[in-house]
Amino acid sequence: MSNLNIKAFVFDAYGTLFDVHSVIEKCNELFSDKGEEISQIWRQKQLEYSFLRQLMGTYTTFFVITQDALHYACKQVGVDLTGEKEKKLLDAYLELNHYEETGSVLEELKPYQKAIFSNGSLDMLSPLVEQSPFGHLLDEVLTVDEVKQFKPTPMSYQLVLEKLGVRREEVLFMSSNPWDIAGATNFGFYTAWINRQEKVMDELGVRPHFEYKDLNGILEHMS
Ligand code: LAC
Repeated sequence: MSNLNIKAFVFDAYGTLFDVHSVIEKCNELFSDKGEEISQIWRQKQLEYSFLRQLMGTYTTFFVITQDALHYACKQVGVDLTGEKEKKLLDAYLELNHYEETGSVLEELKPYQKAIFSNGSLDMLSPLVEQSPFGHLLDEVLTVDEVKQFKPTPMSYQLVLEKLGVRREEVLFMSSNPWDIAGATNFGFYTAWINRQEKVMDELGVRPHFEYKDLNGILEHMS
């Protein structure tokens, strides 16, 4: 039982509810055994491009960034990304595997506001959430595309307060991405780092309030 007054449980999407590396299977189908290498570079460049475009002031949607990062990854690995193969891989991003405990945790959190807050744009988030078995359990799917400011900028997290009508201290924010946890903590949310790969937290001047191996741990914050 928690002594916090959490009214909204807010979740990052990629890496937290959905496994971005579930595209490896499709990558291997198209490019023999290069799936792991392509997927790692693809995700790294996807995030890097969102940070750099934020810094350069050249915002574009996360879908375009994901497409650009895929082009880079395939060039870097030395494989030929035809139009057909590009479509198959981008379609795979719209049907990523979800982490198995997600549905049961969202069910338990029925009395609370539950939202996704993601750098993803709705053209990629909506199909992904709709094909999941827990889309109906979410009250909102929020995208930074509404404010054209990527996480971890403070201006991006502000959207959560406006859309859910809650105060910072009433939000518990979940992410598997250390940079996202640092941004949300810096903004003033309570934060639960879903440290699925048992990483070391980045040195960004803030620490998560809580750390769990998967989403089940957050249930202790139901009041
Ligand atoms: C998200 C990615 C960046 O915001 O993790 O869902």
